[in-house]
Amino acid sequence: ETQIIQLDPNHLDEPYARQQVEYAARLLQEGELVVLPTETVYGLGANAFNAQAAEQIFIAKGRPLSDPLIVHIADEHELENIVSVVPEAAKKLAAAFWPGPLTMILPAGPRVPGLITSGLPNVAVRMPSHPIARALIRAAGVPVAAPSANRFMHVSPTTARHAYMDLKGRVPLILDGGPCTVGVESTILDLCAEVPTILRPGGTGLEALRRVLQKVQPPQLRQIQSEEEEDLTQAQAAPGQMRVHYSPHVPTYLFEGSVEDMRHAMLAELQARQAREEHVGVLIADEDLNAFQESGAIIYSLGHTPEQAATRLFAGLRTLEDAGVNVILCRSFTEQGLGLAIRDRLLKAAGGKITKV
Ligand code: TXA
Ligand code: MG
Repeated sequence: ETQIIQLDPNHLDEPYARQQVEYAARLLQEGELVVLPTETVYGLGANAFNAQAAEQIFIAKGRPLSDPLIVHIADEHELENIVSVVPEAAKKLAAAFWPGPLTMILPAGPRVPGLITSGLPNVAVRMPSHPIARALIRAAGVPVAAPSANRFMHVSPTTARHAYMDLKGRVPLILDGGPCTVGVESTILDLCAEVPTILRPGGTGLEALRRVLQKVQPPQLRQIQSEEEEDLTQAQAAPGQMRVHYSPHVPTYLFEGSVEDMRHAMLAELQARQAREEHVGVLIADEDLNAFQESGAIIYSLGHTPEQAATRLFAGLRTLEDAGVNVILCRSFTEQGLGLAIRDRLLKAAGGKITKV
């Protein structure tokens, strides 16, 4: 009972596309959920001013109410309806990065339901650049609350199919706009902190932010030690600080070291596991393809630039998971640009299982 409608983001002016966007907008106005493409990942949208609609998001995802939602807008003037003040820094950042993969944490205005912010005094706002997201938000005439359209704790979806696999039967409509062009979630920047602080690295790089604001506090990349250490009551104590996310359903090991050393260590681990009849998946780069060609592993390459790696990362984790591997061995990449977000997601996927070589 989940309908999927394919739309070409470059031809939204055509009558058929307009009709479908109007239909999706009507669902949002009626308090229903709609999965929509954004440039980062697919989102699970609801009318942000309707607390009952927003509550459906948590139910469909299986997400605890202590994990707050990002509010998406299509035009900057909508910011006034959501936040109580717009600091100078936010204006500068909006001019530089909106529409695009930057989420700002700002003081919440009175119209934002407490459910959206998990009771925090601040709200997360972002203006996506994806033409379908923008058209839908405009047509709905309300801001759209949207987390990533995956089941809670799973890998974020970068295609409509990923979202369908996680949410079929739980949402009436998925708008399919093709694969996401950025591929990792937005950068979350806390502008309520004394020094603007990155809470989650994402599609907008630290270097780029520092060209606009003098001072930006880099994110604290956390290496989660073990699943047992993860305690959902932690989330209650500090909303918005959930520590586990983006985990594939298969144990994932992250290797660190020089390219040569990582390759050797991964191949050795691979052989040891194959000797125990395990099916092994490897997440590598194009430059490693020759070394792994004959290895018998199921190979997924993230390409050769951080931009490519970002668009392929979540699809790669899901592909290996769906291939039925017992384990995923993954190399590390540069931390430049989008590399910081990739490193953060890999650390979370590995949940502390890191091999330094
Ligand atoms: O790219 C993205 O940001 C995607 C697309 C759909 O826009 N959305 C997304 O949402 O990644 P989600 O719900 O998966 O992650 C939002 C995170 C929360 O887990 C929380 O950590 C943080 O944003 N957050 C939201 N509101 C917050 C607030 N008021 N204070 C601090 N952190 C907040
Ligand atoms: Mg998410």
